[in-house]
Amino acid sequence: MKNLILFFSASLVILFNACANEEVYDDLSPLQKPVVNDPIDINDNSFIAAWNFVSTAKSYRLDVSLQNDFSSYIQGYESLEVAGLNATVAGLTPGTQYFFRVKAVREAELSDYSNVVMVTTSGTLIDTDVNLKDKAADNFFVGAALSTNRLTGGYNELLTTEFNSITAESEMKMRTIFAGPSDYNWTRPDELVQYATENELNIHGHALIWHEEVPDWMRTFTGSNEEFEMIIEDYIKAVVTRYSDKITSWDVVNEAISDGGGIRNTIFLEKLGSNYIAKCFQWAREADPDVLLFYNDYNTPADLAKQQDVYALIDDLQANNISIDGIGLQMHISIDSPTRQEIQDDVDMALQRNLIIHFSELDIRVNPDGRQMVSSLTEEREIAQRLKCKEVVDIYNDIPEAFKYAITVWGLRDPDSWIINHHNRPDWPLLFDDSFNRKSAHIGFLEGLE
Ligand code: G3I
Repeated sequence: MKNLILFFSASLVILFNACANEEVYDDLSPLQKPVVNDPIDINDNSFIAAWNFVSTAKSYRLDVSLQNDFSSYIQGYESLEVAGLNATVAGLTPGTQYFFRVKAVREAELSDYSNVVMVTTSGTLIDTDVNLKDKAADNFFVGAALSTNRLTGGYNELLTTEFNSITAESEMKMRTIFAGPSDYNWTRPDELVQYATENELNIHGHALIWHEEVPDWMRTFTGSNEEFEMIIEDYIKAVVTRYSDKITSWDVVNEAISDGGGIRNTIFLEKLGSNYIAKCFQWAREADPDVLLFYNDYNTPADLAKQQDVYALIDDLQANNISIDGIGLQMHISIDSPTRQEIQDDVDMALQRNLIIHFSELDIRVNPDGRQMVSSLTEEREIAQRLKCKEVVDIYNDIPEAFKYAITVWGLRDPDSWIINHHNRPDWPLLFDDSFNRKSAHIGFLEGLE
């Protein structure tokens, strides 16, 4: 008898515990909010939205919108009642970004909103079989960074069909040209200038003064600061004069402001003094009264302290009547950052100063830090890159005519990009794949021009 009692009380304890642990929802417990999954069967005009089962929910309400704040709804998809755990969302536009969310319903009770998921329909509204330069037409130049060892075959094919402007990735930098005080090696820059001239490509000069490209002999220079100043003046004037009828514009000084703000401590600051940037612009202007002169830097949209000091530097140049025509926003960005608003704010800062704007070194990382690393270019990352490219080009395209110059992509094929070695991480940051084929990002560029 005693054992029977023990057996029953033990099984009662076990049963009670079981009840206590298993989240048994009944109509009294709060209605849980659904969890929406990644969309499936995405095509040009529809996708399937799906979500997880919510205990005690009798049905679900589906919202679909073009905005992630659901400030408006796609017709027929505002609180659409759905009995099951998925719904086909149809009647959509190709190549367009949508957002969707769900609520659970139990009688008159509604749960909180689920997570919001973004989906982009495949396809596009536009004719994609168009070269970038033709789509941009006379609006602005579409440029590419190139090197003397990448001028033939598929490189030449793309350069002479898709682009109408070039920037030397390395060949016009001091370390390549300036072999010694008044000793110049023009071989490789001349080769690029000849290639561009023969193919009627605009040339943007990059870069006269950059701390990362100081020749070894200059790092160990033992002469006086006055002698150093004359050497730099001679250098700038020699280079600008040599190409004055061939090169349309120059990055006179590159990356002189530190990350987080402040003037970067370089050999030029040390030996030429705090107004070295003004001197360099003046010497370039004295060498060529017509060439466009740019200050070029990176990460200003996202690094606001740096942005502030870059524009303070330009304000100072303009206040002292130092001739500067434009700013190069390098745009080494990722699919996540900077945001549209951050880029727009930076552009607005430049327009407030009547500066010509060059998106001078565009590449878009799809494997940025902080994101789950992918070992191949997934469809999700490719679509995200296309949308980011569309966003960047759209912002540039909205710049008033007089202040546009060019969007230059920093390379042609993904595997040639500096990003991969620099970040020591696989990436596909450019508009063409390893076989010179157009990627979705190329469509994004065209869509940005719509
Ligand atoms: O040409 C020499 C070659 O002869 C030598 O065998 C080889 C090995 O050392 O080096 C080759 O030079 C390299 C050059 O690229 C050409 O490939 C340099 O070492 C290397 O430092 C240089 O890297 C360039 C870097 O600027 C420094 O100039 C990258 O290709 C280029 O993408 C990068 O571009 C910069 C922009 O100018 C300014 N903004 C940031 C951007 C990325 O860092």
